[in-house]
Amino acid sequence: MSPVIGIVGGSGLYGVDGLEGAEWRAVDTPWGAPSDALLHGTLDGTRMVFLPRHGRGHVHTPTTVPYRANVAAIKAAGVTHLVSISAVGSFREEMAPGHMVIVDQFVDRTVARAASFFDAGLVAHVSMAAPVCATLAQACARAARAAGATVHEGGTYLAMEGPQFSSMAESRLYRGWGCDVIGMTNLPEARLAREAELHYATVAMVTDYDSWHADHGAVAVSDVIATLRANVATAAALVAALPQEVGGGCGTGCATALDHAVMTAPEKRDP
Ligand code: ADE
Repeated sequence: MSPVIGIVGGSGLYGVDGLEGAEWRAVDTPWGAPSDALLHGTLDGTRMVFLPRHGRGHVHTPTTVPYRANVAAIKAAGVTHLVSISAVGSFREEMAPGHMVIVDQFVDRTVARAASFFDAGLVAHVSMAAPVCATLAQACARAARAAGATVHEGGTYLAMEGPQFSSMAESRLYRGWGCDVIGMTNLPEARLAREAELHYATVAMVTDYDSWHADHGAVAVSDVIATLRANVATAAALVAALPQEVGGGCGTGCATALDHAVMTAPEKRDP
């Protein structure tokens, strides 16, 4: 089966250049409307679907992003491989602003978001031991290198609620826990993508050193935006390189994640 690549674009990424037959299509889902219409098109013969996570004009906070509607709309659009592109702060000297980290683990510090499609009436527990698709993550790393980025393969993403940035004490604590980058949006997205049986990977673009670093001050949105602007061409080149790199299954069960996850007895399930 040919892959259909979905992109959820974070801060600074609100479209895809060079899409053939580009068309924005508004949709609704059982979980409400997604952050924005979905941009459909074709790149190098591969069908692509793009969704700006915060909406065009950046109207959703990390807490108000309708994560379930976003992932449901992407799944309903036929996406098989979902790549999340997000701005992050770094807890590692060597993961410098402008670098890209291909995240492979998450720590959840969010407190105010619906994080599952499963509710009373249908109970399921998917595995999140390996929360990203290793095959898709490798494809993202190749695409990022082809785009000229400095790439770090592997990293633990701490998802915080926001919208305020972390205190210095929190920043040092998360660094001490072994986390590598911090952001506000990739959970519950990764959890929902697993429940939706999508191949999912995250490309985290470092914009700052959060607040732990003695040589850097507190995070400021102006610095985050300046770094995003300086790297927008690299992000666009990465997206353009994805069709050459992404394809096939993964051998680790992303597309069958629900096969042994549902607990509710068949006769008790909501119709
Ligand atoms: N996004 C970009 N930089 C961030 C930071 N330092 N903390 C949380 N989210 C971010």
